[in-house]
Amino acid sequence: MNNKKRIAIFASGNGSNFEAIAEACRQNRLDAQVALCVCDHPGAYVTERAKRLEIPVLEFKPKNYSGKEEYERMILSELQKEEVELICLAGYMRIVGKTLLDAYKEKIINIHPSLLPAFPGVDAIGQALKYGVKVFGVTVHFVDETLDGGKIISQIAIPYEGGDREEVETIIHAWEHAIYVSTLKKLLN
Ligand code: GRF
Repeated sequence: MNNKKRIAIFASGNGSNFEAIAEACRQNRLDAQVALCVCDHPGAYVTERAKRLEIPVLEFKPKNYSGKEEYERMILSELQKEEVELICLAGYMRIVGKTLLDAYKEKIINIHPSLLPAFPGVDAIGQALKYGVKVFGVTVHFVDETLDGGKIISQIAIPYEGGDREEVETIIHAWEHAIYVSTLKKLLN
């Protein structure tokens, strides 16, 4: 194995952040390698992206396990086999439990489409639109046992210049891809 940092990316759905990170690694913009894509929704679009990029996929159905502890033990054993050092959550729609948090202390990060602590949880963009904010944002933070509550690593504010939800989402996602990669670059250095 080369000495690039080995990353696992956890995602549940679309996987555009997954692809942004994987591409940055492939193009050597990041001194890292995506060793594993972990997905709790077998067949989600992120798994197609991973297969196209020739990245191994670990798919699992949480309901086939007795609970979080059991499926996280299974994930942990795969992460250890793949010598994963850092976990990036990218649209992973589950709270990470003690098994992974203890094994990867301060080594799990997440991206969230708001200026945390505003609008934690699901559909942050929808929450912000409903509230009528004039500034949207993106946050990259360490993951702890709270919902989107870990220590903030980086943030960006994005002014609202009008537009419907689809337009706002497109802008925010583009910023997400950029900030996730640039934050990882800083962390890896
Ligand atoms: C992103 O908005 C991310 O911030 C949030 O979930 C979404 C995932 O999008 N945690 P994608 O699957 O990476 O396209």
